[in-house]
Amino acid sequence: AKITFIASNGSSKIAEGFGGSLMELAVSHGIQGIDGDCGGVCSCATCHVHVAPGDMEKTGPASDIEKDMLELADGADEFSRLCCQIQVSDALDGIQLRVAK
Ligand code: FES
Repeated sequence: AKITFIASNGSSKIAEGFGGSLMELAVSHGIQGIDGDCGGVCSCATCHVHVAPGDMEKTGPASDIEKDMLELADGADEFSRLCCQIQVSDALDGIQLRVAK
């Protein structure tokens, strides 16, 4: 799936992935602002992204554990997800994610 990441400075980068999590995809493509400090176990919020509103249907909502973590993240809103909790699949092709500041 091809995923567009939009950095906080407005620049965008398309990353193509076939498995693993969106956090791993972002880190392997050097997406600025996605650090993945906890290694993808939903405990650091350094992989916080805002899903484009029209793409929320594809990613689905955050889980309860994820929501608890997002409460601690700056600027979280209803489109927030921790992208280590989203697995790359064909269903996500074309989605846009804005990296949280
Ligand atoms: Fe730590 Fe996603 S990488 S919460």
